[in-house]
Amino acid sequence: MKAFASDNYSGIHPEILHAMTEANHEHVGSYGNDIYTQKAVEKFKEHFGKEIEVFFVYNGTGANVLGLSAMTKSFNSIIAPELAHINVDESTAPEKFLGCKIIGVPTTHGKLTPALVEERIIRVHDQHHPQAKVISISQTSEYATVYTIEEIKALSVLAKKHNMYLHMDGSRIANAAVSLNKGLREFTRDAGVDVLSFGGTKNGMMVGEAVVFFNTSLAADFSYQRKQGMQLHSKMRFISAQFNALLSNDLWKRNASHANNMAKLLEQKLRELPAVTITQPVEANGVFAILPKQNIEKVQEAIFFYVWNEKTNECRFMCSYNTTEEDINTLVDAIRKYSA
Ligand SMILES: Cc1ncc(COP(=O)(O)O)c(C=O)c1O
Repeated sequence: MKAFASDNYSGIHPEILHAMTEANHEHVGSYGNDIYTQKAVEKFKEHFGKEIEVFFVYNGTGANVLGLSAMTKSFNSIIAPELAHINVDESTAPEKFLGCKIIGVPTTHGKLTPALVEERIIRVHDQHHPQAKVISISQTSEYATVYTIEEIKALSVLAKKHNMYLHMDGSRIANAAVSLNKGLREFTRDAGVDVLSFGGTKNGMMVGEAVVFFNTSLAADFSYQRKQGMQLHSKMRFISAQFNALLSNDLWKRNASHANNMAKLLEQKLRELPAVTITQPVEANGVFAILPKQNIEKVQEAIFFYVWNEKTNECRFMCSYNTTEEDINTLVDAIRKYSA
């Protein structure tokens, strides 16, 4: 079965599986006291510079919630796009663990702007009102669009002006880097991001994400927060070995490039179908398109994907490192067949 439902429908990339197998020998220290974790941290430092702190966790929800917990107190608010993963796809984990209010802002194509954020920074120092502390953006966004470096810098300037922090949910950070044709550092650390959730699972890993602190003063208590938040893996070497493989030989870039190219190809082919309307700019590994309602279920039987917006029939098609042209043809042929 192949699908366009999510990039986490794909399995483990063979180079990553190999790295896990290689790490599967003898006894090594637990909870990160091992050579694989040391190496993985070094890999992150090669990409982001030496003055960072990196912590590995299990999943993206954990990375986001714990990263945010390092930046907030429970009387704070977090300003994010309305459709941000932290606002609509993490159940109430942020609310339960942070106690903060998330302010979901309607956006165009999933991206916050300084003007949109500034409108929500209100009643500063008013003890009756949640105090805005974090701007949280996803790179790529939930609509698979990509913030430019200038857009991120502008949000960072705004955050600093208001004594706030900038958080980036980088569940698909590799897809963004490839789209921008930049290294991982330029649009994160160098653009003023304080804390980054670095995604592995959607780019070929089995399990594992990283919380990367560029503002290292925020990391002082993070090891305790990670344990308290139940995201400390005892056999850490198996998360670390995956990151070693992902961040070696440009695997992160190869995987993301392939996924992004497949999305471009899908866009091209869908644009040839009069029954289909592309709704968002295709900038990374996702395509959003409105399909005729009566066709959706039949096409889903041929190859599965999710309806993103049931009211408008906007569907989401995610490509991954192992999406093939054949998968795209299967999808496009099914849409063509059922809309004829
Ligand atoms: C934007 C975004 N952030 C974070 C995540 C990570 O979520 P999970 O907790 O399922 O790993 C996802 C996964 O769908 C996502 O799309």
